[in-house]
This record gives sequence, C-alpha cells and structure tokens, in this order.
Amino acid sequence: MVTIEPAERDAVAAFVAHIVGRLARTPRMALGLATGATMVPVYAGLVAAHRAGKVSFRGVTSFNLDEYVGIAPGHPSSYRATMDALLFSQVDIDRARSFVPLGNAPDLAAEAARYEQAIRDAGGIDLQLLGIGRNGHIGFNEPGSSFASRTRIVDLHPATRAANAGFFPDAEVPRQAITMGIATILSARALAVLATGAGKRDAVRAALHGPATPACPASALQSHPDAGWWLDAAAGAG
Ligand code: F6R
Repeated sequence: MVTIEPAERDAVAAFVAHIVGRLARTPRMALGLATGATMVPVYAGLVAAHRAGKVSFRGVTSFNLDEYVGIAPGHPSSYRATMDALLFSQVDIDRARSFVPLGNAPDLAAEAARYEQAIRDAGGIDLQLLGIGRNGHIGFNEPGSSFASRTRIVDLHPATRAANAGFFPDAEVPRQAITMGIATILSARALAVLATGAGKRDAVRAALHGPATPACPASALQSHPDAGWWLDAAAGAG
C-alpha cells in the first residue's frame, strides 16, 4: 500500500493516524520505533494524540531500530536520550519495556544477540515504523547489507554520517552503529514507512519500483506482505 499526500504535514498526520488506529485495536503491542528527522513530527503527533486521550502506550513494549556505537545512553545525541525526550517522557509507556540497543555495551556482539532475544521474548514486533535513508538504508543497514542480516554492528556510510552531523553539534558522528538487521525488520508482522521531501525521491523510487537488491536495502520490503508506505508528494514524485 502506498499513500501519497500533498504536503509533508498531511503525510505525517496520516502516518500518525495509522499508528493511533493500530494501537487502539491492539493496545498490548510490540512496537518498533525509528529515529531521525522524519520521525520528529511523528512523535509530536503521538504525544498530542496521547494528551487528547486518543492513545495510550501503557500496554506497549517498544524496540528501537538502532543506536550509535560508543555512545552512552545518557549522551544527549544517543537515540535512547532522543526517544526519552521526544516520546517516552511524555507518554504513559512503561520505561522498563522500552528497548534501545546499548551502544556502549562492553560486548557488542552479545548485546546484539540479547536484543534479538528480547524481541523474540516479546513475541516478535507487531508494527515496525521505518524511515528511509537517501541511499536507501533502513535502520542502519547500508547498501550491500544482506537481506538475511540480523541485529549486528555495522560501519556507517560517510553520507549517513554527514546526514546526521547536525545531531552531533559538539562531536564527531560515530563511525559505527548497532542495528536490527534486514531480516529482523522483515520479521515484523507489519511495517509502516514514512518518507518526506525531495531528498528521498530517488531512494523511494528504487525501493518501490527497482529490483529487490542489497544495493537498495529498502527494496527488501517488497517481499513483505504488510508493508505500508506514507509519502508526501515530493518523496513520491519518482
Ligand atoms: C534511524 C533509522 C534511519 C533513518 C534514516 C532517515 O533510527 O533507522 O534509517 O530512518 O536515516 O533519517 P531522516 O529521517 O533523518 O532522514
């Protein structure tokens, strides 16, 4: 399913409405979360819906896609701190059931295995939210990632580090991340992808209409039976 809305705010509103609807139907949900600039207005929308009494996160177990390596959870640029600020501190989620990979774990391979196990223990992810990188990445699965990949440590592409430099005003963007793999993402029962802006147009076109190839990690989503895409006109113009 591909939904194209005229403006970014309309695409975001439709995406938020979809999540709110899913949560209303399945309050005890394992919800996969993403970070990045695209998701900032989504979390603002979910917080507003919560404040309006339209949605509760009390039954939600959440799993974020990824985290930077070498960054402590309390670091202001960590995805854990970002999620705390944008969503977790503002809704009624049980913080003990909001999972983000630990980027400064002493044994990162063990942390990756632990994360996969935590997802299995929760019964798998019901709905995974996704953004898409300009190079077609999902999570931090950069071009070339195997469609069979699971949670692991990856090197970040220079373009991805450049795109995220704004989130690290005082320091270098880390060179590695821990990310759910493409197979981990495909294991979710439903996927909801949001892409906005002309900068995502080529990646969206390759993901939806190109061949399914590791050269465009998001093209792996073509094989998923329940993957919805929400695009604004600029991202959907390809
Ligand atoms: C972040 C993530 C990434 C972003 C992608 C788009 O958790 O998984 O795949 O979704 O880099 O980022 P923005 O939204 O900043 O363009």
